[in-house]
This record gives sequence, C-alpha cells and structure tokens, in this order.
Amino acid sequence: METPVPEYYEVFGEFRGILLDKTFTKYWDDVETFLARPDDLVIATYPKSGTTWVSEIVYMIYKEGDVEKCKEDAIFNRVPFLECRNEDLINGVKLLKEKESPRIMKTHLPPYLLPASFWEKNCKMIYLCRNAKDVVVSYYYFFLMITSYPNPESFSEFVEKFMQGQVPYGSWYDHVKSWWEKSKSAHVLFMFYEDMKKDIRREVIKLIEFLGKKPSEELVDKIIQHTSFQEMKNNPSTNYTMMPDEIMNQKVSPFMRKGIVGDWKNHFTAALRERFEEHYKQQMKDCTVKFRTEL
Ligand code: A3P
Repeated sequence: METPVPEYYEVFGEFRGILLDKTFTKYWDDVETFLARPDDLVIATYPKSGTTWVSEIVYMIYKEGDVEKCKEDAIFNRVPFLECRNEDLINGVKLLKEKESPRIMKTHLPPYLLPASFWEKNCKMIYLCRNAKDVVVSYYYFFLMITSYPNPESFSEFVEKFMQGQVPYGSWYDHVKSWWEKSKSAHVLFMFYEDMKKDIRREVIKLIEFLGKKPSEELVDKIIQHTSFQEMKNNPSTNYTMMPDEIMNQKVSPFMRKGIVGDWKNHFTAALRERFEEHYKQQMKDCTVKFRTEL
C-alpha cells in the first residue's frame, strides 16, 4: 500500500523565524545546548548548494587524500547533519557527541540559530552558497524524492513558495545575507558553488589553506579526482544510496542529479524568470554578494 503524501504544514512548521521540519524542532533543546569543541569544523549551506561536495573535499583533506578511509562509511555518518532529527531513528547531535575530535559537521541553519557554543569557541566555518535559480531547481527535485516531504506541486508553485521563504530553512535571501555578514570574520570562509565548477583547483587550494594545511600538488590532484561529479555519483559512500529507499526514493530523482550551473534554464519560463529576477533584485538590493547563474 502506498504511503499517503503528507500535507505541507503537517511536515513543516514556523520555528523562530523560519520554516523547519517539525521532527527537527521537537527536541530543539538538544541542538541549542550543543557543546562545540574548539577544533570542530562547521560546513554551513542553504539546502542544495553543494553541501555533500564540499563535505567530501574537506573529509579528503582531513584524511590527507586517503580514498579508502573516505569510503569506510556513508558521508552522512562521516559528516553528521547537526540539527537532523527524527525521534531515535536519526539524531545528528547524538552522532556528533560520539565522534572523536576533530569533528566535521554540516548544518543548514542560519547564523542566529546555530548553537551559541560554536561562536563562543570561534570554530572554523565554511559557508558554501549557490545561485538561487539553480538552488530552487535542485530543491524541487529533492522534494520529489524525499518520501516524507509533501508534494511540491508544479515547479512554478514551488518557486513561489521559495520566494516567500515558505520552504525548510526559510528565505534563501536572508540566509545568504546573514552568512555573508558573518564571513567578515576570519574564521568563516565564504565560497560559491559556481567558483568550484569554474576552477576546482583554486577552490580546493583555498580550502586546504583555510584548514591550515599545505596544498601539495599530489593531494590537490587526488581530491579533484575523487570528488568529481561522476566519481561521487558512482561512489556509494557519497551518492546517498546507503540511505534507505523509504527515506530517499532515488528512482524518482537521483541525489547526484546533474551537478551543473544553469539547469534553471531548462525549468524557468520567460515569465517566471522575469518575476523571479524582479523579486530577487528587491531582496538583494542592499547586499554586495554577486552570483553567477551561468559559466
Ligand atoms: P543538482 O540537483 O543541481 O544536480 P547538497 O549536497 O547541498 O544537497 O546539494 C546537492 C547538489 O549538489 C545537487 O545539485 C548535486 O548534484 C550537486 N553535487 C553534488 N556533488 C557534486 C559534485 N561533485 N560536483 C558538482 N555538483 C555536485
């Protein structure tokens, strides 16, 4: 028997200014009181911005290019998802508490919801962002394949929700702007998906140096090879095939979907694009961050 598709606001609820999965916020105390360690590394992104890609690169750096060590477990266990929670089935905080230092973790939280302990301990953070139009396309397919998520309806209806911040993690515009402000501090590195697509060598070197290590040519080459889209798509420890089908239905849309800049062109009609860009200009008018939407 097919499981019924849940209603939108049964799954997500307003929580301290943004929409979030209700299963995540049920035990929010655990997240809020999370104790950071000074050598924790936080990878922060708005969903669908290339989190898995940058996570694998960082993991490779930590393991000094040892591919075998990177294949020992799925990325979602090696780089736990801090606020992810579904009763006792999935518990990011618990997974992290059990990890030895140095820990790497991912989060999609805006800075004001990130546990205070990370700011107090001056932990290093990497914020990776991606242009809004490609994010909304990737997010749409993600909605289709996450079995517990409601139906996103048509693409244009989903875009409308995205523009209004009525998607998990709220407004993309606010997320990017507030992390951009935070990146004025030297312990926050601000990166772009489009830069990684354009010149991965330069971005890998930037990451290695940010983590206080030496970018030897051999290490950089290995990382580039191991974290290419094709490699990661075929690698069970990075392509989410180790996640049960009951959670992610990759027959509907693979997690490693296209991995390109500019797929929005295949989804936005001229009218939708115009509306989106007009709204974008308003939302981003006071912000100096500029995105490339094609390479
Ligand atoms: P698409 O849906 O546009 O293909 P996240 O990890 O934040 O959920 O982001 C997922 C997006 O990053 C997907 O985008 C996925 O294909 C893309 N991605 C993952 N690994 C990548 C890689 N090695 N190179 C390029 N894009 C990658």
